[in-house]
Amino acid sequence: MNICVFGIGYVGLCASVCLAQLGHNIVCIDKDNKKIENLKNNIVPIFEPKLNELILKNKNKLIFKTNLENNEKNFDIFIIATGTPTQKNGEVDLSAIYNVADEIIKNCKNNSIIINKSTVPIGFNNKLQDYINAKTNLKLDVISNPEFLRQGSAIDDFLNPERIIIGYKSDFALKKVLKMYKALNLKDEQIITTDLNSAEMIKYASNSFLALKISFINEISKLCEKTNADIEYVKKGLTSDSRIGKKFLNCGIGFGGSCFPKDTKALVNIANNYDIELKTIKATIEANEAQVDYFINKIINFYKGNIKDKTFILLGLSFKPNTNDLREAPSIKIIDKLTDLNANIIAYDPKAKYDKVKQVNKINDAFNDADCLIIATEWEEFKNIDVELLKKLKDKVIFDGRNIFINRNLKKYGLKYYCIGKNEQQN
Ligand code: UDX
Repeated sequence: MNICVFGIGYVGLCASVCLAQLGHNIVCIDKDNKKIENLKNNIVPIFEPKLNELILKNKNKLIFKTNLENNEKNFDIFIIATGTPTQKNGEVDLSAIYNVADEIIKNCKNNSIIINKSTVPIGFNNKLQDYINAKTNLKLDVISNPEFLRQGSAIDDFLNPERIIIGYKSDFALKKVLKMYKALNLKDEQIITTDLNSAEMIKYASNSFLALKISFINEISKLCEKTNADIEYVKKGLTSDSRIGKKFLNCGIGFGGSCFPKDTKALVNIANNYDIELKTIKATIEANEAQVDYFINKIINFYKGNIKDKTFILLGLSFKPNTNDLREAPSIKIIDKLTDLNANIIAYDPKAKYDKVKQVNKINDAFNDADCLIIATEWEEFKNIDVELLKKLKDKVIFDGRNIFINRNLKKYGLKYYCIGKNEQQN
C-alpha cells in the first residue's frame, strides 16, 4: 500500500520504518527541514535499538520530505503522528493535527483513509471527521489507532504488539487498516475494534493505569523503608497474585518520558471539563512528583543539608534505559536541585546528552575525584560496575534510584547503600 505519514517523531518514524518492513511504500513528512535532510543521509535523530538497521534495510521503501507536492494523490492511507503537547492552560494542543488534515485534504484521492495515531482527547477524532467532511466532498474516513510502542523497544513493540486498537466508523476504512497490518499475522483476539471515542479513551486509560501502578509501588516502597519491610519480598508476594500481575511494579524515582506525565495530566484536565475529578490519577501525578523529591531529600539529609562543593557522579540521564530521550527524566530534577545547593555533578549516560551538566564519555573517568554515586537510570552497563571503582568514592556512599545493586551486598566493602524500598540497615 502507499502510505503517507505526517510527524516523524518517535511514533511516526518507528511506525514508518516498521510499515516499510511490512512491505508498504512510505512517504514520511515532517516540517523540520534539518531532521528530514539528516534522515535522507541516514542520520537518525533518536537512539532506538534496531531502528537504524531497519531504515537502511528498507531504504527503497522510505521517502523523507518536508511537505507533499501538489497532485501527489496516490496514497491509500495517511497516518497522523504529530505531537499533541499540553498547553499552559492544561488543554491539549491539537493545531498540528488540523494543519496536517488541511494538507491531506489538498492531496488525497477519494476513499483514502486517515489513521490518527496521536494521543487526542476523547471525542476529537469525531470532530476531525466533521472538520474534514465540511471541507471536502471526497470520502475520507478517520480511524483512531493509538500507538502503544515503548521507547527502547519500539521496533519490537510495533512488529509484535500484544494488541492493536482500531476505533472506526466505516467498515470500508476498517478493512483498509486491517490490510495494512495483515503482515503482522495477528490473531483475531489481538485486534480490538471499537468506536472512535473508546479507542481514544483506551490510550489515556492504559497509560494512566500503568502510571498508577508505578506510583502505587513507589508509595509502598517508601513505607517499606520506614517499617523495616523489604520491597523485594513485598513485590514477590504482591505480584504472584495473578489478579495483580508481575509487570510494571518496579519501584524507582518515578516515571518520566513523553507519555505518562503528559497523558495523566491531560486526562485529569479532560475530566475537569466534564466536572469530574479523577482522584486516583491526580494522586498518581502527585505521588510521582513526590517520589523524586523524596529521593533527592534522602541524599541531602545524608549530608545534613550541606552538599556545597561535594562531587556527585550521576549515572543515567535518559528517562529510562535504551533511549537517549530526556523528556521528563527524573535525572534533570536531581541535577537542578543538587546544583542549586552548589554541589558538582559529573554525569555519564551511554546515549543521552544534556548540555547543562558536565558529562564524561567513559564511566571510569567519572570516578576519579568523586564523593558519592547516584544511579538515575538502570542502563545494563551500570549493573556490573567494578566494585573497585565504587570503593574510590570518597564518602563511600551510593544512592541507587533504580535498585540495580540491590543484590550485590555492597556493605561488605564498607560502602553505604541507599536504594528504594529497603532501608540502609537492611542492605
Ligand atoms: C509508555 C507506555 O508503556 C507505552 O505503551 C506508550 O505508548 C508510551 O508511554 P514509554 O514512556 O516509552 O512508554 O516507557 P515505559 O517503559 O512505559 O516507562 C515509562 C516510565 O515508567 C519510565 O520512566 C520508567 O522508568 C517508569 N517505570 C516503568 C517504572 O518506574 N517502573 C516500572 O515498573 C515501569
